[in-house]
Amino acid sequence: MENKQAIVMSGIRPTGFLHLGNYFGAVRNYVRMQEEYSCYFMVADWHSLTTHPDTATLKDHVKRVLAENIASGLDPEKVALYCQSHVPETAELYLYLNMMAYKGELEKTVSFKEKVRLQPDNVNAGLLTYPVLQTADIILHRASYVPVGKDQEQHLEMARTFANRFNHRYGEIFPEPYAFNFGEELVKVPSLDGAGKMSKSENQLATLYLADDDELIRKKVMKAKTDSGPTEPNSPKPDYIENIFLLMRLVSEKEVIAKFEADYNGCTIRYGDMKKQLAEDMVRFISPIRAKATDIKNDHKYLQDVMEKGAAKARKSAQVTLALVREAMGLNYY
Ligand code: TYM
Repeated sequence: MENKQAIVMSGIRPTGFLHLGNYFGAVRNYVRMQEEYSCYFMVADWHSLTTHPDTATLKDHVKRVLAENIASGLDPEKVALYCQSHVPETAELYLYLNMMAYKGELEKTVSFKEKVRLQPDNVNAGLLTYPVLQTADIILHRASYVPVGKDQEQHLEMARTFANRFNHRYGEIFPEPYAFNFGEELVKVPSLDGAGKMSKSENQLATLYLADDDELIRKKVMKAKTDSGPTEPNSPKPDYIENIFLLMRLVSEKEVIAKFEADYNGCTIRYGDMKKQLAEDMVRFISPIRAKATDIKNDHKYLQDVMEKGAAKARKSAQVTLALVREAMGLNYY
């Protein structure tokens, strides 16, 4: 890790197993970035407590998410792969940053407003300061690049605000962190029901998980919403049809996509055939990752070793940052 220059950090909540959105929005970039950058990737178990206070499935999910990251090609020897709660320095930085984050700006956050709507009986302070904790995760390693999907754009904007506020008040310690996707716009993988994005805990039948078995993948894809097809050549695509094309672009061969584009434009498209093709391409893509992830997850000794080594690497970097932070803040008394 020592020779690599720019620092990269990202995280995933263990509120469920990984889905295609997590893969194409985040993990695919992690795997590409591990060769060129100094990378810190973690499972955000503290963040998940803001919405999932019941921890009965947490252990299982943390392990599965770690295993799925590794099965997708992440090499724990090349990166620091760890669990958020194993790096307590995060909590100290979170505390300092909380003194610089204002109630008004936190209440305006889109994700906060959405959570208030979804869980009106549990609008806890952790939910309000969620973006502060996320900022602590990122700037703890003084990271500049944060591979994430499009839904995290606002959190990254807030991370820049908090980092700049700290720098302005106490001295230049933190670079501005930016959301990152290789040479393209940030990704948003749509759900199969044409409504919104794929997500870990909502509408599970419209979400393709890396843990889904072949039959379930086929069933979910075949259920995706379609219609009787275009009647005018070269018509614009309704959102739910565009979504199917978008999913196909993620996993299918170029020629296959071109064929269905041409069929669509010529009004000869058969959505049943298109979905069958998409289902088979999804199965081909997901099944090897699922098999590998299951093997890794069952190897408890190996996962424990990954977590311990990852936490040691992350804490080493975190402790350097916190020494700088305490000094800048004047909290060094001797
Ligand atoms: P989370 O757990 O919701 O999602 C993990 C990653 O997957 C991306 N993602 C998607 N990308 C494209 N299309 C989708 N449908 C889709 N759904 C999810 C997310 O953008 C994210 O990159 N707050 C974060 C976790 C976090 C974090 C961090 C991220 C905690 N600390 C520090 C970056 C840096 C979250 O809830 O992600």
